[in-house]
Amino acid sequence: MSTITENQLPGDEEEKLRDECKELLVSLPKERGWITLEQYQFQGFWCSSALIQSIIAFQKHFQARDSDIVLATVPKSGTTWLKALTFAVVNRHRFAIKNHPLLTSNPHHLVPFLVESNHYEITNLLPDLSSKFPDQPRLFATHIPFPSLGPIKESNCKIVYICRNPFDTFVSAWHFLNTGRPKSLPPMPLDEAFDMYCKGIIVFGPYWDHMLGYWKESLKRPHNVLFLKYEDMKEDGIFHLKRLAKFLEYPFTMEEERNGVIEYIAELCSFETMKNLEVNKTGTLVQNFEKASLFRKAEVGDWVNHLNPEMVERLSNVIEERLGGSGLSSLSSRSIQ
Ligand code: PPS
Repeated sequence: MSTITENQLPGDEEEKLRDECKELLVSLPKERGWITLEQYQFQGFWCSSALIQSIIAFQKHFQARDSDIVLATVPKSGTTWLKALTFAVVNRHRFAIKNHPLLTSNPHHLVPFLVESNHYEITNLLPDLSSKFPDQPRLFATHIPFPSLGPIKESNCKIVYICRNPFDTFVSAWHFLNTGRPKSLPPMPLDEAFDMYCKGIIVFGPYWDHMLGYWKESLKRPHNVLFLKYEDMKEDGIFHLKRLAKFLEYPFTMEEERNGVIEYIAELCSFETMKNLEVNKTGTLVQNFEKASLFRKAEVGDWVNHLNPEMVERLSNVIEERLGGSGLSSLSSRSIQ
């Protein structure tokens, strides 16, 4: 007799779920996708039909633990960096400097996503999320907006969110998604992508709603949700690394501070180090996406090289309208100045 594990759907549940999803799709608003032919508006955000299935499976079957750590992001806002930093902080007593796993593994292979990140076809509705280190909290990442986090929302686990100014996030997404578009689709022109982005039509978008969901939760439950900003971390990485470690209840000791452990982690996870590692220069992540395309420029303000004044005005207006008064509108004005 076979036993059901945490990453197995019971009985004919998988079949049922796929049928349920097919019926649901017919009723959902639909638009052209960035990398798939179509995308759907599901629970208020946009995503492919394959992702919808695995999100429903996650919402129904994932068993959260209060000790779980979840890294939440909008795509292209610093996910890879946050995964590396958190992995390094939580496991810092486990690995010697010379053979740290981050030197030989891409951060996406060390910290899994809660749902598969394949936009075309989900092979595993419930991915295997068992930890290699059972004595440590489980580390996961997700792009799912806060209101749709189901079992995680009900738990007491810690969530770290990183947010990036929407201008650079757009430029980063446009480059990245174009590199991963199937060969059968021509590259998406910048102005078309920008128009869709401003309307919120991008995987897991609208991004401003995504940010706002986690922002509000971080104000409501500061012990459970830490809200970081990419630009602040670029400016003072050490300060925010200490904040991250303290929030996760892995604070650096005075001795560690004296011994340069914080600087070591910051350096290990820096863009320059990660980009130049052999493991990150070659091979693909999922589908057509090269690992190397995760490490493009990592600059604050690169949007000035891509957006014309009309585009800047349009996106500024959207951000002001959607984030004005929330305490997050500084995201746009700071990067424009
Ligand atoms: S993904 O596909 O959602 O996981 O992408 P994500 O990691 O969120 O975002 C990719 C952008 O982050 C930059 N990057 C980094 N910045 C700082 N430090 C480190 N270590 C780092 N690694 C990746 C990466 O260059 C992308 O930004 P752009 O502006 O495109 O260069």
